[in-house]
Amino acid sequence: MAVELDEAERMGRPELEALQLDRLRASLRHAYDHVGFYRDAFDKAGLHPEDCRSLADLARFPFTAKSDLRDHYPFGMFAVPESDIRRIHASSGTTGRPTVVGYTQRDLDTWADVVARSIRAAGGRPGHKVHVAYGYGLFTGGLGAHYGAERLGCTVIPASGGMTARQVQLIQDFRPEIIMVTPSYMLTLLDEFERQGVDPRTTSLKVGIFGAEPWTEEMRREIEERFAIDAVDIYGLSEVMGPGVAQECVETKDGLHIWEDHFYPEIVDPLTGEVLPDGERGELVFTSLTKEAMPVIRYRTRDLTRLLPGTARVFRRMEKVTGRSDDLVILRGVNLFPTQIEEIVLRTPGLAPHFQLRLTREGRLDALTVRVEARADTPPEQRDAAARSIVAAVKDGIGVSVAVEIVDPETIERSVGKFKRIVDLRPGRA
Ligand code: DLL
Repeated sequence: MAVELDEAERMGRPELEALQLDRLRASLRHAYDHVGFYRDAFDKAGLHPEDCRSLADLARFPFTAKSDLRDHYPFGMFAVPESDIRRIHASSGTTGRPTVVGYTQRDLDTWADVVARSIRAAGGRPGHKVHVAYGYGLFTGGLGAHYGAERLGCTVIPASGGMTARQVQLIQDFRPEIIMVTPSYMLTLLDEFERQGVDPRTTSLKVGIFGAEPWTEEMRREIEERFAIDAVDIYGLSEVMGPGVAQECVETKDGLHIWEDHFYPEIVDPLTGEVLPDGERGELVFTSLTKEAMPVIRYRTRDLTRLLPGTARVFRRMEKVTGRSDDLVILRGVNLFPTQIEEIVLRTPGLAPHFQLRLTREGRLDALTVRVEARADTPPEQRDAAARSIVAAVKDGIGVSVAVEIVDPETIERSVGKFKRIVDLRPGRA
C-alpha cells in the first residue's frame, strides 16, 4: 500500500520555507501580544515581531530557557485565557517547581497530527494495534502517543508504564504490531519475556518507536536483534509539544526528520549562543510555529545534536541526540556522556545491556564506576576480561580512567520509564 503523505510532507523546500516564514512571523506576534515575558524580552532587545523578515532574522531574537518557564509558574507563559486551555502537562524536574505546559484544542489537534505522522513514518498504518507503554499522566509520553495513534486510525492499547509481567501478557494476547516505550523499559520487557519462557523474537511486534531518553546505535542493534523488530527513534519535549517533534523514518533509519512545518529548529553554540550552520554540532533550539496556548520562541533544549538535510522527507533531520548538557559528566577535566559508555558496554561480549554510572568523590577528585551486569551464562574469567576491556576502551576512546564492576544478573535496578543512568553519590549531590 502506498503511503499517503501529509500536504506539508509533499512540499518542496521553497514552499516549505515560505510557509515557515509566515507562521514564524505570526508566532512572534502572538507571543509578543499575549505573553508579558516575551513582550518584555523583545522590548529589552529593541526588537518588534515585524523585524523578522526572513528565517535568518530569528537569530536576532532573545532565547527562552527552562528557568524562564519555572519563573512564570504555573500559567504565566500562557498566551490564551485559561478557559481556552484544554489540557495541562508538567515535567517533574529534579529540583523545585515543575515545568507546566498548556494546550488549546487546536494544539491538541496539531499534536495528534504530528504523532500520527511520526507513527506512519515508523511504518505504522491504520488498523495496526499500538501498545503504548510510555507513562500516562502529567508526562507527555503516554497521552501524546495515544492520541496520535488514534488519529492515524490505529487501535490503541493504553498500557502505560509498570506492571511489567502484565505488559508481556497483554502483548502475547492482543498481538500489537507496534510498541511505543522508552528504550530502557523495552529492555525490562525483554527480561520479562525471557523470565516467562517466551522467545521475544516470536511476538507479533514489528516496530518499536523509542524515545524520551538518549539511546545509541548499539542499543538499536541489541533491541532489533533480540526482538526481531525495526527500532526507530522519536524525539520531543514537553515545552515544545511532547513526543512527535521529530521522527526517524523506518526505511532510512538515518536520524530524525523534524516536523519543520510546526517546529523551527536552530543549532547554537551552547556557550556563546551563536547560530551554527547545518552540519555543525551544538545545542538544539526550537521556535514553535503554530502553537496557540504556549508559544515558545528560541527555546533552549540543552540537547546536543546537528542538523542534516532531508532524505526520506523534505524536512531537515537531526542526528540522534546522544547527549544532553544536563547529563554531561566532567571527570577530572574530561567530558563524558553516558551514551559513550553505553556504546562500549554493548559492544563488550558477555555483558547484559543493563548498566549504571556511579559518581563518587575520593578525596578531592571525582570518580566514576561503571556497574554492569554479566549475562547469565558468562563464566567468571570472561567477567574479568570484560571489565578490563571496558577500562581500556574508556581510557583509549574517552581519555579518562574509570572503575568497572561486573555484577550478577538481576542486580541493577530496572527502568519503568526514563531511566536514571547516573547515580550521583558525591557529597551534597544526592
Ligand atoms: O520525553 C517527550 C517524549 C515522550 C519524547 C515520549 C519521545 C517519546 P520531556 O519529559 O519533556 O518530554 O523530556 C524531554 O527528553 O529534551 C531530551 O533530553 C530527552 N529526549 C526525548 N526524546 C529523546 C530521544 C519527553 N529520542 C527531553 N533521544 C528532551 C534522546 C530524548 N533524548
